Amino acid sequence: MARPKVYVTHELFPAARAALATRFDAEYWQGSSRPPRDELLRGVADKDALICLLTERVDEALLAGAPRLRIVANVAVGYDNIDLGACTRRKIVATNTPGVLDETTADLAWALMMAVARRIAESDAYARSGAWTGWNLDQFCGADVWGKTLGIVGFGRIGQAMARRATGFKMRVLYANRHRAPEETERGLHAQHAELDDLLAKSDFVTLHVPLTPATRGMISTPQFAKMKQPAFLINTARGPIVDEAALVAALASGNIAGAGLDVFEREPQISEGLRRPNVVMTPHIGSASVETRARMASIAVDNVIAFFDGRRPPTILNPEIFD
Ligand code: NAP
Ligand code: GLV
Repeated sequence: MARPKVYVTHELFPAARAALATRFDAEYWQGSSRPPRDELLRGVADKDALICLLTERVDEALLAGAPRLRIVANVAVGYDNIDLGACTRRKIVATNTPGVLDETTADLAWALMMAVARRIAESDAYARSGAWTGWNLDQFCGADVWGKTLGIVGFGRIGQAMARRATGFKMRVLYANRHRAPEETERGLHAQHAELDDLLAKSDFVTLHVPLTPATRGMISTPQFAKMKQPAFLINTARGPIVDEAALVAALASGNIAGAGLDVFEREPQISEGLRRPNVVMTPHIGSASVETRARMASIAVDNVIAFFDGRRPPTILNPEIFD
């Protein structure tokens, strides 16, 4: 029997690549940047499976041009790049990589919060420049993180990983979420439920962990910045378009917020000029980027594809109704 064909839009880690090679004919996109759209459409046109990154748009047009496609395995937990409804209508399975990246992404969000509050990037640049002439009482004074109030927007896997870190920093934790968490979760994480406006008014640090959906697109914009406690910091490691970037630039310029730690941007890889300020610390969407975690994510994507062609339910299927 012919081996199923897979199009893979990025080199995978060795274990994932080896597992895929045992069962599939895999074609890898070899370019150093993301595959151009026409290449993606060409690559997937005669394939049974697609393994892709969050940068690839999997929409109706792509699916229409790939009549053999049975499964799309995203190497990311966020799947706003995939038209899930279109996949389901065509009975194409979609999968993501939840769970394995929670702590790694929370570590990065925490690092951004520490960096912007304690002016790490600014003072690192200064120390390297050779301009330092000696200790000074008021040099690079920032804001304390410990003992402050942390507002977590989106209290899922990563949001709760942030709450766990806050305990060690003696912080008060507020969270806003579509559904209230069970009482034992709140108690265990010393977290208190709040409506978003209340959370914004009371938090010294607001950290975003909701997925990008129609309901969360632009959820932090001018009115929300106006409601934020002063001074307060915004941390975004979720998705860029959850924050209205022009409104963020304006809030930073007017001093309405104290600073921002950003891993994601509205139009990646472009970054608004107005964000290049000393009180903004930025990273290029590296939330889950530890070698261990990225390798696990790649393996989960491959495991999903293998399970599907074995006739088993893919472990992290997004549209289980196809299977059940
Ligand atoms: P998750 O476990 O599904 O948590 C998301 C939480 O957001 C859930 O608790 C959900 O509430 C809540 N939510 C959804 N829509 C909401 C709304 N309209 N208003 C309020 N709360 C809402 O997801 P996760 O694994 O923590 O990941 C969160 C997001 O982080 C991903 O979707 C991805 O975009 C991003 N991410 C980024 C990186 C990076 O590299 N920077 C890495 C990993 C993840 P319910 O409980 O009601 O469903
Ligand atoms: C990264 O952004 C992810 O969603 O996994």
